[in-house]
Amino acid sequence: MRLLVRLAALAVACVLVTWAFVARPNLPAAERGRRLAERWGCFGCHGPGGLRGVANHGRLDRTVPGFEGDVMMYVKGDDDLREWIRDGVPKRRAESKTWQFDRDHGALRMPAFGRVLSAGQVEDLVAFVNASAGNPAPEGELAAAGLGKADALGCTGCHGAGGRLALRNPGSLKGYVPSWDGRDFPEVVHDRAEFNQWVMYGVSNRFRENPVAMSLLGRAALQMPSYLYHVSRPDIDSLWAYVDWLRRTPH
Ligand code: HEC
Ligand code: HEC
Repeated sequence: MRLLVRLAALAVACVLVTWAFVARPNLPAAERGRRLAERWGCFGCHGPGGLRGVANHGRLDRTVPGFEGDVMMYVKGDDDLREWIRDGVPKRRAESKTWQFDRDHGALRMPAFGRVLSAGQVEDLVAFVNASAGNPAPEGELAAAGLGKADALGCTGCHGAGGRLALRNPGSLKGYVPSWDGRDFPEVVHDRAEFNQWVMYGVSNRFRENPVAMSLLGRAALQMPSYLYHVSRPDIDSLWAYVDWLRRTPH
């Protein structure tokens, strides 16, 4: 009898450990950065999601820069980005008379967040701004076409810029939509065949055959759509080329 009780306790412990492993969130740095950006008011000036800066009255450039594309006009790599966020301006740029004039005349000024954020938090914000700006850009025509497809098919609405964020998904196991470069990905997608299944049917065969997984997926607010009637073979080839490039490239 005592043995039975012990065995039962052991079984419960096993389930708990598995659960903790499965349900433990693995947010990518860019998503941690996005959540910090939300919390620290970046979107108040850089616009919703940091994508469209608001008007900046009195300045020649007229608007606060967004993080998409035009962000890189005055940013030369991660060091610059870090200094913008930490100090409110990179050292190099602070010496420019034109910049000083412009800054003094604008209604809105970039704050120096180094006073309130840790170095690690600044790094997460750098990762978020880079993801939004599409940095680094995919190498090779097929991978670049895949990123274009991901935008055109709406994938990046749920999977975030470049498939690199983990936006909230209430009711889902981990609480977010898995990113394509995150640590959860290899658990969910074992190989190219499973990738195809996710994109075409909104679920892999392996998950479909698992009733526990299916009931968990069904409870999430956002579900992976089926693109069966919306993608061609070459589309999936390019999407895979992009995801594969993303996973192999340090960023
Ligand atoms: C009060 C408004 C305001 C807030 C809040 C704000 N910014 Fe800015 N930010 C600006 C302005 C204005 C500029 C342009 C600065 C300049 O040229 O002097 C800027 C520039 C930048 C740049 C350089 C981009 C470029 O293209 O020149 C980055 C990166 C940046 N901000 C990131 C952030 C992050 C991350 C946060 C939140 C932690 C944030 N900003 C919060 C107003 C703001
Ligand atoms: C409406 C939101 C939504 C859109 C749009 C969407 N997905 Fe998903 N995707 C999800 C969710 C949520 C999951 C997690 C599985 C689930 O809960 O069904 C997922 C899972 C995946 C997975 C499984 C692996 C992982 O960790 O990411 C892949 C691969 C994937 N999506 C690729 C794509 C591609 C490619 C597109 C565009 C053709 C796309 N998704 C569009 C919501 C979306």
